[in-house]
Amino acid sequence: MTPEVRVVANIAAAAEYVVAALQAALADGAVATLVLAGGATPLPLYARLAEAADLDWPRIHVFWGDERLVPPDDPGSNYAAAHEALLRHVSLPEANIHRIKGELEDVAAVTDYAEQLRGFAQRYDADCPSPWPRFDIVLLGLGADGHTASLFPGSPAACVVPVMAVTAEYDGRPARRVTLTPIVFNHARRVAFLVSGANKAAAVAAALGPERDPERYPAQRIEPEEGEVVWFLDRAAASEIKGG
Ligand code: 6PG
Repeated sequence: MTPEVRVVANIAAAAEYVVAALQAALADGAVATLVLAGGATPLPLYARLAEAADLDWPRIHVFWGDERLVPPDDPGSNYAAAHEALLRHVSLPEANIHRIKGELEDVAAVTDYAEQLRGFAQRYDADCPSPWPRFDIVLLGLGADGHTASLFPGSPAACVVPVMAVTAEYDGRPARRVTLTPIVFNHARRVAFLVSGANKAAAVAAALGPERDPERYPAQRIEPEEGEVVWFLDRAAASEIKGG
């Protein structure tokens, strides 16, 4: 499915889309699943979600697309950032928060998260053929170098495992990471990229451009078989899209 591009005044405006996706999932089934992105871009959206009046949080389960291998109270933790902006403000039971355990060593963190995914799928997604859930809405960011989640340019494209550990230097952030892989993202019902700032414009134009090079542009690996992809861009991030 061709990705849809929505140029928005600010990334928080994507909250409406996320709320609608969660409400649709809750209308359809017992629970809804939300995969959070790391980094700074999504934080205003998380704050907007925290204020959304009409979300049945006790039926929503939260996961992460990637995490840095640091403790959950570390300033570099994606969990810590989401807890500060969203999780501590909503009535989300602890059992609904499925952290990538950054405090563990990489192999243990990968094994633990893969096991969490398998157990959740078994319990809530019984007809799901894979040992991970078909997520209702996945949020993804984009680095200025074109990475998304922790899928960096040049990293192995042909992932056969749902979760993997990577080491990558970016923007002075913690380098050792755990990430979901395209086989999980591409099972999702909806994927929303959230990108803001002129420093991302070239990476956005490349990812959405005519040149197909998923190894160089990892965001091109995100193509849900039966799901939709929407890119929420502010004007600066959209400024180099041809005809944009
Ligand atoms: C992470 C993120 C990463 C992030 C991009 C963009 O763990 O850092 O998952 O993929 O989305 O690096 O980060 P910013 O939104 O801070 O620019």
